[in-house]
Amino acid sequence: RTEIKELYAGMEELGGKTVTVCGWARTIRDSKALGFIDLNDGSCFKGVQIVFEADKLPNYKDIAKLNVGSAIVVTGELLLTPEAKQPFEIHASEIIVEGTSTPDYPLQKKRHTMEYLRTIAHLRPRTNTFSAAFRVRSAAAYAIHKFFNENGFVYAHTPLITGSDCEGAGEMFTVTTLDPENLPRTEDGAVDYSQDFFQKHTSLTVSGQLEAECMAMAFGKVYTFGPTFRAEKSYTQRHAAEFWMIEPEIAFADLQDDMQLAEDMMKFVIRYVMDTCPQDIAFFNQFVDKGLVDRLNNVVNSDFARVTYTEAVELLKKNNENFEYKVDWGTDLQTEHEKYLTEQVFGKPVFVTDYPKEIKAFYMRLNDDGKTVAAVDLLVPGIGEIIGGSQREERLEILQQRMKDFQLEEENYWWYLDLRKYGGTKHAGFGLGFERLVMYLTGIANIRDVLPFPRTTGTAEF
Ligand code: 4AD
Ligand code: MG
Repeated sequence: RTEIKELYAGMEELGGKTVTVCGWARTIRDSKALGFIDLNDGSCFKGVQIVFEADKLPNYKDIAKLNVGSAIVVTGELLLTPEAKQPFEIHASEIIVEGTSTPDYPLQKKRHTMEYLRTIAHLRPRTNTFSAAFRVRSAAAYAIHKFFNENGFVYAHTPLITGSDCEGAGEMFTVTTLDPENLPRTEDGAVDYSQDFFQKHTSLTVSGQLEAECMAMAFGKVYTFGPTFRAEKSYTQRHAAEFWMIEPEIAFADLQDDMQLAEDMMKFVIRYVMDTCPQDIAFFNQFVDKGLVDRLNNVVNSDFARVTYTEAVELLKKNNENFEYKVDWGTDLQTEHEKYLTEQVFGKPVFVTDYPKEIKAFYMRLNDDGKTVAAVDLLVPGIGEIIGGSQREERLEILQQRMKDFQLEEENYWWYLDLRKYGGTKHAGFGLGFERLVMYLTGIANIRDVLPFPRTTGTAEF
């Protein structure tokens, strides 16, 4: 069996030879004695045209009657067709039907809306757009692992069930085995989690960072890459309840090192995907986002801009009349502000650093001004925030004070505080939202369309 991708790669040598391909029929046309099938196997963007003839195939009639979506195995001669639209076709000497399809197959040859395709998430990977999106997703995941492994990072697995809240944003999904109909209660009426599986309140993780910090304090350079969960109620195009995050953590490193790492990683991944998925990227550039290739090339070849939050606020205030949410020092940046900065002011990715301590998480290192923390967000045109990171607070007393300010119980973080007691060093890290990266690489506007089976509020089908 040969994959269609290999046929394209080796067509010069394969011309005139007999090959076997397996796949699903996208279209089937026939006149009395001659038929054509557009066969796809998902190995690459393109399909292959199968030509089948009544005088060569004893089961010609059965094949001609097949419905779109059928799974078949085709053996035949590969004929180069330099004059035609496709560079080659396969003239079938045998077609075996593995699985027929019924006439109500939902993916008929026509343009379906993205909304409709979301309702058939189990079948949409067989369309051009989703097939390309999930191949790019796979290539990008591989590129991430390649980048970190080639740069001496240890891949660390952090737990999905956790007893602490990394971001302190209160967006956690509780994990419990207690019977909701019959919850045990303490004297003051609260749910008594001491009777639960873990004998305490636990949740699905919102970030592997705190555990990654533990690993970085042993290995120096580590990264995580795994699922992350947030009970985000906001119904936006870039928030999912279950998404994947990449979180590198580096010891003996500060915010500058952190930004350098983020920039190097982004450029590596973009280059890798453009090199390995050229047909998919060309498709997105033509049909989904006309500026995609120019933008990606621009990112690879330019230095990312760097501004402090305070400088960014000054830039944004000049445009306050056009914003729905007015900007002032201390306000969090909204999508419209992030878009304005990246698209109107800089025209490329921009690192915004040193945010007010009130709007960022407890673990970020307090700057000397006492008002800001060593935080960094990477904002990119078309998406807004794609990375959030920081230098971590390594000074024990200051960290304890920050936890008090955020009303976090030390008993839930004792191990995290230990890192500051036993050989603590300056260190930094960031989290890259993997789906936002795939959106960036494809130009796909909605996070629901870069996740094979998206989980957003109100949707957990499939
Ligand atoms: O900015 P966030 O919340 O940062 C952290 O979680 C840190 N602990 C990371 C670290 O320093 N190790 O999230 C990081 C990134 C965001 O920039 C965004 O790209 C993505 O994760 N993200 C989401 N992606 C999809 N859906 C959501 N609900 C997301 N929330 C965050
Ligand atoms: Mg963030």
